[in-house]
Amino acid sequence: MVLPAATGAPPRPDITLRFSHVVAEETPKGLAANRFKVLVEQRSGGRIGVQVYPNAQLYGDDDEMQALQMGAVDLVAPSLSKFGRIGLPEFEMFGLPFLFDDLSAVRRITLGPLGQKLMQGLPRQGLVGLGFFDNGFKQMSANRPLLEPKDFAGLRMRVQASFVIAAQMRALGAKPVTLAFSETRRALAAGVVDGTENPVSNFWTQNMHEVQSDLSLTEHGYLGYAVVTNQRFWQHLQPDDRAMINQALQESLAFANTIADAQNDQALQALRQAGTTRIHSLSTGQRARLRQAVEPVQQQLASRIAPRWMSDLKQALRKA
Ligand code: SIN
Repeated sequence: MVLPAATGAPPRPDITLRFSHVVAEETPKGLAANRFKVLVEQRSGGRIGVQVYPNAQLYGDDDEMQALQMGAVDLVAPSLSKFGRIGLPEFEMFGLPFLFDDLSAVRRITLGPLGQKLMQGLPRQGLVGLGFFDNGFKQMSANRPLLEPKDFAGLRMRVQASFVIAAQMRALGAKPVTLAFSETRRALAAGVVDGTENPVSNFWTQNMHEVQSDLSLTEHGYLGYAVVTNQRFWQHLQPDDRAMINQALQESLAFANTIADAQNDQALQALRQAGTTRIHSLSTGQRARLRQAVEPVQQQLASRIAPRWMSDLKQALRKA
């Protein structure tokens, strides 16, 4: 019997999942996506491959959801604030400024009935939601400190495609400019926008510190994600494969949640060492004044979504 020559090459996968995202690999999302790839490829013995496309290499904010709906990619993990643009504005509740005191408050939504109810809206768009996970709390940057509402006056602030975040910037006296994440650094460098907001891991890994002289530690809002897949693709997987992929994903998201804080802390440390950007802490009074300025945003979102969402949200957050 003639045996085929051993080539040493790994087996070619029968299926390759394409996971597209817009951030750098050294971020909570980037690291979670890479861990997911390792787990799936190991557990399937190489039969299922995962190709991760970071940094908007394949699709960016403006087309990744559409690409997923068309089956051009299999997994994406957009910021929860970006789901309004596919007709699910209730997801924007996560972007409400000063809504969450800490991550345990976030978990009351993501691990509770409200999180499930949010995910149940996705099949209307031909999508399936597989899980929530964190980046962390956002900070404000510009070429000046942003400590009081008056500091925002007239600034053009880059925002995600989000009604809530645009409303937040307006409430602070700034002019929101919606731009894809991948365009942000360039727009800051060119002076098309004056400032932006993001957790420090995103700020650092996009080299925004090279073009922003001041970062104010406002911690004014949460940035988290949902991993979504195409419903048709998901249903056509073999049940065992689907279960294995889902398990690998849940483990990767749990991993992201455990490292997200540390990633942001490390990025802040690296930023301090780089010495390019002044870092400002806020006093309790300054933070309270920012909070007061953005209070109307809750009402503005409430008028765009079914009243039940806001009452469910308040109830979930009240629970001890
Ligand atoms: C992301 O973390 O996915 C991007 C957030 C942003 O667009 O600001």
